[in-house]
Amino acid sequence: MSASRGGFSSRFGFIMAAAGSAVGLGNIWGFPTQTASNGGAAFVLVYLVLAFCLAYPAFMAELLIGRYGQANAVTSMQKMSRNLWQKRFAFIVGFSGIICASLILSFYGILAGWMMSYAIEPITSVLGYNQASSWLTSQSITRNLLFTALFMMLTISIIRRGVENGIEKWSKRLMPMLIGLLILLIIYVFTLDGSREGFAAYLNPDISRVFEPDLLINALGSAFFSLSLGTSVMVIYGSYISKKENLVTLGAQVTLIDVSIAFLAGLLIIPSMYVAQAQGVAIFGDDGSLISGPNLVFEVLPTLFNGMGAVGFFVGFCFFVLMSIAALTSSISMLEGPVSFVVERHNIERKKATTFIGFGIFIISTLIVLNFDLLFGFVISLSTVYGQPLIAMLCCVFVGWIWQRSDILAEIKQGNDEVEYGLFWKIWPWYTKFVCPSAIAIVFFHSL
Ligand code: PFF
Repeated sequence: MSASRGGFSSRFGFIMAAAGSAVGLGNIWGFPTQTASNGGAAFVLVYLVLAFCLAYPAFMAELLIGRYGQANAVTSMQKMSRNLWQKRFAFIVGFSGIICASLILSFYGILAGWMMSYAIEPITSVLGYNQASSWLTSQSITRNLLFTALFMMLTISIIRRGVENGIEKWSKRLMPMLIGLLILLIIYVFTLDGSREGFAAYLNPDISRVFEPDLLINALGSAFFSLSLGTSVMVIYGSYISKKENLVTLGAQVTLIDVSIAFLAGLLIIPSMYVAQAQGVAIFGDDGSLISGPNLVFEVLPTLFNGMGAVGFFVGFCFFVLMSIAALTSSISMLEGPVSFVVERHNIERKKATTFIGFGIFIISTLIVLNFDLLFGFVISLSTVYGQPLIAMLCCVFVGWIWQRSDILAEIKQGNDEVEYGLFWKIWPWYTKFVCPSAIAIVFFHSL
């Protein structure tokens, strides 16, 4: 880690920051929702396999690029390039990742704003401010803009402090809180009527669905979104890791935490839906599938919390605080991508760059809020359905085809001297060269 650009001060700090980026609304909302609409445990099974077999190798590629380059995504990839064309290609891939992260943040901030307003609602309800409560839980341009701005201000204020005092310090505080809250909520839901049926629905796979193309595509998309791939974020986090650390193990630990938290979130959400059903709430749509998407988080669950009486206020508050924390540890990583680029390439001071870029992204969010029907779905598809897989694939191509094998080995060996003789080095290089890009391409083109 270089003294001037900062870096993570400890292994734990990196794990919490990278897991914080990975664990977000994608895990706690997206994953259970996808599970609900893709046949329950069959989806969970496929997700686990794809996360370790495709997303983890791609994740390692991005971390390695960053640690080798010790710089933002564009500069890091350019350091690996040996001629002008490769340098141009590096610029396109690195810069597209940065744009992708910024676009994701522009819609993610809106979703996170909703979570924050729903977290405040139980407080206004307890205090008897009914009008405020209904304003907080109804869609309106003012509410959306206000809470998106609030969330962006929190994100900006953390990133302005830098890597160690901002990203690392806050991830180390927020991630344990998130895990604690999640476990407490699961234990509570487990005591309620109807939850066992939910656990059964979540944990019994319908093996016949495992090879359904839609299920495979959705599972791969979720795994890539969840590990924040194709956005330059893991490249930049990789660049803040000390050369003394064993990257292979660190990457595996972060993947494991990410997948486990998605799994735990499913253990909370799916059984909660069945508890809601036991209380008379409809949890199946007209086509017989479990309700998913916004209806699940903003209708089914709040109805469940309301039905719990006084304790419901507290449970609802904890649930939406959990969502907001998960969103915040992810959003800071998205903002770090463009900020590190501008700071390092254009020599602009970090605080200025952060405020300026954060504000620019808020302007995009504002445009989305004002043209919601037109832009919201479009920006999500552009960045997550097309952008992320494509850029992640190009990163694998870069590592597999452009970066010299001896240089890759030299980089991985730092902090892991024995790697050459282990299973990872036997499999990963050709896997990243052939399997990952082709598998991502197949799934990508199939989804088109
Ligand atoms: N991994 C985050 C989630 O699961 O919600 C989302 C995310 C974070 C996507 C950072 C992209 C990114 F750069």
